[in-house]
Amino acid sequence: MHPIEKIKSKRKPHPEIDVSQGRTIAYSRSTTRRLMEMLDANAHGNVHGGVIMRMVDEAAAIVAVKHSGKSVVTARIERFDFIAPAYIGNVISIYCSMNYVGRTSMEVGVDVQAEDLYTGEIRRVASSRVTYVALDANGKPTPVPPLIAGNEEEQKIIDEARQRRLQTQNEDSRK
Ligand SMILES: CC(C)(COP(=O)(O)OP(=O)(O)OC[C@H]1O[C@@H](n2cnc3c(N)ncnc32)[C@H](O)[C@@H]1OP(=O)(O)O)[C@@H](O)C(=O)NCCC(=O)NCCS
Repeated sequence: MHPIEKIKSKRKPHPEIDVSQGRTIAYSRSTTRRLMEMLDANAHGNVHGGVIMRMVDEAAAIVAVKHSGKSVVTARIERFDFIAPAYIGNVISIYCSMNYVGRTSMEVGVDVQAEDLYTGEIRRVASSRVTYVALDANGKPTPVPPLIAGNEEEQKIIDEARQRRLQTQNEDSRK
């Protein structure tokens, strides 16, 4: 048996999720932190962009899995600008929260900060949005619980994301 199939065969099936039961943004919000080490950086001590992007994908997936209770795949990573450097010895913090939920897809907003533990300086390093699609046991897109606003601030985030999504869908359909 292929090693991946062997691992899959030992997994218990995921519990059934009530997809009519909405979840708030606060429910799945997540922060991931890691100290940057030698292997994360180039010879000048700057952390590689790819290291940060991998951390972002892993951190944002936590939000999508927690919201949906299902396995997810990355469908899209929006434009990713590195606005300030991060260095060896910095702690990278990745703040992730759900922006929008469609039928089977989920958009997670991501903010990346680097902290110098000795001086306390915190720099905003990058931000992005990552879209995941929940998959069923056959690897097909499957419905997820709706996103409900827990307060006015969450409602604003959801409304803005819905507008952006409509705009992106229009742009994609023109390609
Ligand atoms: C993502 C994937 C499952 C979508 O499959 P598909 O057959 O195109 O699915 P559908 O057309 O039914 O779309 C399903 C949902 O995904 C959304 N979607 C699909 N591709 C998308 C993209 N590139 N960007 C944003 N959303 C996307 C659709 O809008 C739809 O959302 P909704 O259900 O909330 O309305 C498929 O393209 C895939 O498996 N891609 C590879 C994923 C991968 O390997 N990622 C890297 C490793 S995790």
